[in-house]
Amino acid sequence: MTIRMDKLIKVIATALDIVEGELLGASTYHGKRIAVLCADMGRYMGMDTEGICGLTTCALLHDNALTEYILSERSGKKHDSAMQLHCELGQHNVDSLNFQTDIRGFILYHHERADGSGPYSKRAGEVPLGAELIAIADSIDVTNHLQRVPIAALPNLREAISKSIGETYTPRAAEAMLHVLEEKMLLSLQDDRILETAEQFIPLWSVDLADQVILNLAQLVTRIIDYKSTFTQCHSTQIANKVWLMGGYYGYDPSQRVQVFLAAALHDLGKLTTPLSILEKPGALDADEFRIMKNHVAKTWELLKEVDGLETIRAWASNHHEKLDGTGYPFGKKADELDFNSRLMACIDIYQAVSEERPYHPRRNHKDTMKILYTMVDKGQVDKNIVRDLDTVLACFSDQNVPAPSID
Ligand SMILES: [Fe+2]
Ligand SMILES: [Fe+2]
Ligand SMILES: [Fe+2]
Ligand SMILES: [Fe+2]
Repeated sequence: MTIRMDKLIKVIATALDIVEGELLGASTYHGKRIAVLCADMGRYMGMDTEGICGLTTCALLHDNALTEYILSERSGKKHDSAMQLHCELGQHNVDSLNFQTDIRGFILYHHERADGSGPYSKRAGEVPLGAELIAIADSIDVTNHLQRVPIAALPNLREAISKSIGETYTPRAAEAMLHVLEEKMLLSLQDDRILETAEQFIPLWSVDLADQVILNLAQLVTRIIDYKSTFTQCHSTQIANKVWLMGGYYGYDPSQRVQVFLAAALHDLGKLTTPLSILEKPGALDADEFRIMKNHVAKTWELLKEVDGLETIRAWASNHHEKLDGTGYPFGKKADELDFNSRLMACIDIYQAVSEERPYHPRRNHKDTMKILYTMVDKGQVDKNIVRDLDTVLACFSDQNVPAPSID
């Protein structure tokens, strides 16, 4: 059984765009616009499909380390160069995706300028072509908001690009951009057309479900989500690792384990749309704030709708706040509508949330965490057998983190 990595990466890019919008004011579909421009420029520069696949993935995920870097700054760490940090972390994160093509430096150097005034002082010709293409597309979209540039303004935009050659843009990247950025392309980048355009330009990439690269991508997603808030720094990562562990306990085959791991990694994807002021509010949320907080699950559901073939994983991911007695959210499903993996996801999410430090409660050890889960069993809210199994399997970790999995 295979999964469409390109579709999964596009969903992650949509979620990243939302964060980039909240934190930096970037536009919706920013990542997809850059990927489309890169694909077309890459083709013009003679790249093959594998090369374009690597390039568009890096373009979609160019700011994947944004939450990681911002959290590091917020926690008081001083960095020599903030710009360098998100480039380094971002490159490191995509290196784990095992491309068939060389993507070294593509994200690392995505803020370099032709005159050497970028974060690494690299000049034209000193960085790989992929980095130059991402850099020019990123810079042009951020400064010009390509989704709303009127056709009449295109000549001025093209002239501005030509004038910046040797300063901001390298000659070969500018040549490629001027070749592709014509009327038809500009129209294809508008908000109402971009999803369709992305389908045409971004190469299809299917991967077997038992491939390590899916676990690596899932781990990349958990880092993006978890680093949004100080209080959730290992939340999704630990839920995914614990689900993997339980999959082993229940004798799941490798592809079943990957599917539940992926569902766990994606379960709080919608939290990227929840404002930080709510995620980190010290004290109880008021009714409106609670409604916004609860909406993260519906957002997870909505974001994952973009990926066909992911329906089961989407259901497990989106059922993590449902309860057997129908008091959960967002759907208020009852026991007979919640399959085993949905119940497992819910129990592990509660285990993790209750054991972690939060603005409104301290860390809890395994014993105290289990007490809360057993109370919920008594109320008929969670699955009794799964709770007992969690007690058995997780006790030996004595409050240590469960390690990340790998496929042999
Ligand atoms: Fe960046
Ligand atoms: Fe960007
Ligand atoms: Fe959640
Ligand atoms: Fe969660």
